[in-house]
Amino acid sequence: MRIEYRLLPDCERKEPPAPGAELGFGQLRTDHMFLMNYSDGGWHSPRIVPYGPLELQPGAMCLHYGQTFFEGIKAFKHADGEIYCFRADKNAERMNHSAEILCMPAIPEDMQLEAIHRLLDVDRRWCPSEPQSSMYIRPFMFATQDSLGVKPSKEYLYCVMLSPSGAYYKGGFSHAIRLLVTRKYHRAVSGGTGTAKAGGNYGASLRPQEYAKSFGADQVLYLSADNGAIEEVGTMNHYHVLKDGAFIIPDFGDSILRSVTSLSVLELAALGKARARQEVIRVDKFLDDVASGEIIEAGGFGTAAVVSPVGEYVFEDGRTLTVGNGGVGEHSRRLYEMYAAMQTGDLPAPDGWLRQVKHY
Ligand code: COI
Repeated sequence: MRIEYRLLPDCERKEPPAPGAELGFGQLRTDHMFLMNYSDGGWHSPRIVPYGPLELQPGAMCLHYGQTFFEGIKAFKHADGEIYCFRADKNAERMNHSAEILCMPAIPEDMQLEAIHRLLDVDRRWCPSEPQSSMYIRPFMFATQDSLGVKPSKEYLYCVMLSPSGAYYKGGFSHAIRLLVTRKYHRAVSGGTGTAKAGGNYGASLRPQEYAKSFGADQVLYLSADNGAIEEVGTMNHYHVLKDGAFIIPDFGDSILRSVTSLSVLELAALGKARARQEVIRVDKFLDDVASGEIIEAGGFGTAAVVSPVGEYVFEDGRTLTVGNGGVGEHSRRLYEMYAAMQTGDLPAPDGWLRQVKHY
């Protein structure tokens, strides 16, 4: 791919945050972004340009019919000073899955990876290295054709932006969150767009999230609209841990996003480095098992969330149910520490999970 570089002169580049500064999640931007257009049946004009406003017609179809999706990927600065992208190939694959679901064009995975790596190379001085921090990479695609007919757009823009970030939930891994158990709202239905990282899925999650907050919870534990089985949390997959230390992740079905973190935990289990499997989980049985102590820990897996423990389930009638000791459990801690150490290069990761960003 022949990428055009239109880079800021050194004197116009911003200063990255000082080491140790509070980064927050998704707040900061680096100096540049990657853009590529799709029209006349093909991708063209790949370029790295200063990060800034995009020009868009008011009739751009993404603004009206939600033809847009995104990904979330992380890169880490290792002790050797180099930057390594973590499992971006999995996200590139899921990007094309989302594209298929939303009738949008695929981007060859090697092109996506090159775009990400070249942008990381240009803005490499922004990559943080504090514990629980990373360069959060946000690729996304949206429909740009100026047309009001409800049909797939013929034109798109693919964009990659970077955000040096800390933990997704305030307090990071050491803070256990609360989930509202409700049958009032559902995230996705069978046959819908639940397996895509569609912007609309996240837009639709805002009202349930506000509802959860009104009960003092951080997020909703979504249940299947079909059979009440546990699905996911919207910003992450859900897991629980049995007394014997096994991590149980809900069966993906076709209404749950296939979290790269969940897939990685399952792969670690296949390699004998963790105990994990998938099951259909009936919520009533789940809650009984939490109450009886059969389930000793719970939490979420996600790129942004990594491993985020859940301490309490909250109900609309005011009841609450504590998992284990209500804090961060030992199994979750051990898994988190192993996974994070693999990401940062402090423990060897399975082959192919980390790819060094070249100095192009
Ligand atoms: C991620 O884990 O990267 C996500 O996309 C979740 C996000 C909505 C913050």
